[in-house]
Amino acid sequence: MIKKPIVAANWKMHKTPQEGIHFISELNNLLLDKEKPSIIFCPPFTSLFHMNEMISDLDISLGAQNVYFENEGAFTGEISINMLKSCGVQYVIIGHSERRHIFNESNKDANKKLHNVLENEIIPILCIGEKLEDRKSNNTSKVLMEQLKDGLAGINKDMMDRIIIAYEPVWAIGTGVNALPDQVEESHAMIRKILLELYDNNLNNNIPILYGGSVKPDNSEDLINTKGVDGFLIGGASLNLEMFSKIIEIVHNKFMR
Ligand code: 13P
Repeated sequence: MIKKPIVAANWKMHKTPQEGIHFISELNNLLLDKEKPSIIFCPPFTSLFHMNEMISDLDISLGAQNVYFENEGAFTGEISINMLKSCGVQYVIIGHSERRHIFNESNKDANKKLHNVLENEIIPILCIGEKLEDRKSNNTSKVLMEQLKDGLAGINKDMMDRIIIAYEPVWAIGTGVNALPDQVEESHAMIRKILLELYDNNLNNNIPILYGGSVKPDNSEDLINTKGVDGFLIGGASLNLEMFSKIIEIVHNKFMR
């Protein structure tokens, strides 16, 4: 059976709850009764509750962009996994490059969050990717290895059945310059190899690996047809109805072939 590809929208700090609901209802009108890839929306926290009520009848899932690793307490400004679960969240993005580079999150932080999310039966989307200087100095595989080794510390093989990896090279995020299919193929293969090494070849090799970084309708066909790509994590283009529905259609066409 062919694996259903995943199209995940990371709305970052965009759209009020009203705008989010409007977007989903318009998208639903466009895609009504059509077969779709797995679609996951990760809106800001403030939209989760209402979007969950709205998508309950639709073939769409809900994700959060972050979570704290403690379950409760004096952590002003943070949000717990139970709070997310009560809003119908099924996925959580962990270790996004903006969390790492703007908010100084480390691999260790990502690891603590990953444990918390998996222990609560929510699916993490672990983001990894190299900076431009890493790529230029041929350090891409070293960076990916560090992010995976430290990020996945203590995560057992069974837990790995419920994880999604997103390869998001930092230099491709929000720049309009996507990684080329050859670069994506190489990095995804590297990631699979590292995962097998970390788990002594004793791992289900079906872990979905998404690509993220300036995915747009005009590059999504080449990127989705790239070996090792199981779907996308999309920022900018997921905010635009026309672009996002076009990408969904392109991804779906690959799935149907
Ligand atoms: P862009 O699609 O805007 O490059 O963002 C990618 C991203 O960061 C998704 O998490």
